Amino acid sequence: MNQLGLGIAITGSGSATPEVALDNHQLERMVETSDEWITARTGIRERHLVDAQGCLSAIASTAAQKAIAMAGIAPTDLDLIILATSTPDDLFGTATQIQHLLGAPQAVSFDMTAACSGFVFGMVTAAQFIRTGVYQNVLLIGADILSRWVDWTDRGTCILFGDGAGAIVMQVNESDRFLGFELRSDGTLNKSLQLAFKAQTRELVEGVTVSQGNYQPISMNGKEIYRFAVQKVPEVIEKALFRANLSTDEVDWLLLHQANQRILDAVAQRLNIPAEKVLSNLAHYGNTSAASIPLALDEAVRAGQIQSGDVIAAAGFGAGLTWGATIFQWGR
Ligand code: UT7
Repeated sequence: MNQLGLGIAITGSGSATPEVALDNHQLERMVETSDEWITARTGIRERHLVDAQGCLSAIASTAAQKAIAMAGIAPTDLDLIILATSTPDDLFGTATQIQHLLGAPQAVSFDMTAACSGFVFGMVTAAQFIRTGVYQNVLLIGADILSRWVDWTDRGTCILFGDGAGAIVMQVNESDRFLGFELRSDGTLNKSLQLAFKAQTRELVEGVTVSQGNYQPISMNGKEIYRFAVQKVPEVIEKALFRANLSTDEVDWLLLHQANQRILDAVAQRLNIPAEKVLSNLAHYGNTSAASIPLALDEAVRAGQIQSGDVIAAAGFGAGLTWGATIFQWGR
């Protein structure tokens, strides 16, 4: 073990995506774009969307139930539930609704927001509680319904995003499987990718005003985010691998935030990691923000690709800006 404190294992995964999919040809009817352009520039072919009857707590709970079942524990065993999301059903927090739906009354539950890095930041947060012996069984969910906040007339963004949820169970373990991490933030580039509140002044009584308004649809400088990701993501992965005392050759699976196939390819190339070690499912889901990493992880685990003991280098990047990497082994 290279860390002080108790060992940590990732013992279960689960995911859930809405049934309804919107493919590139359907997008052609909405904005000036083409299946060829979207496929060539992003690798995305379709994305799944939550309808007006759906909600974040429902897809998140479905993913969570599957992760809990795989870990072989009961919801009542959970000490902590962390929901990484930027699109809660309730701005006061949605994790407690999930706690209620799961039947996990003992679990302290809260939301955390780090956009598309939310799941990686959540893994590190969960790990601190387990390392220090505070909690033993933690459920981490990454879930987002970005379709709520996409400008469906903006071809620069609406082609990218989809909805989904993924979850893992992290537990105290004799052997340590959580091997290293590196997290970073840079607020100077905040405006490059935003889902910002736009204030309108309302006067309550003379001399006393408050700001009331609405969140504005996602705005993004795609080129800037692209450059940032390709430059910064390899750096944090190398740093996290250094902390784990591992080389890139020892990585079995590169598990990047599923934003754009070109970003996945460029990061893998910079790290000299062969394409067959790069997990990718964005053709079917697009960019599902905090859900993308656990969704791809769960699919690879259930497909038998990821085996117990495999070394996974996961990295998230996105709004904030935030970015970070974790290095872990699958299973106990
Ligand atoms: O979680 C993190 C979230 N964000 C990201 O990961 C985004 C990172 N960035 C990207 O993935 C890419 O920058 C995009 C996919 C968003 C855009 O690809 P690009 O190769 O950077 O294209 P571009 O913005 O340079 O646009 C090239 C051309 C432009 O036309 P002109 O100026 O060359 O005439 C755009 O107007 O493509 C045009 N364009 C489109 N054409 C057809 C932009 N969006 C579209 C579209 N369909 N949807």
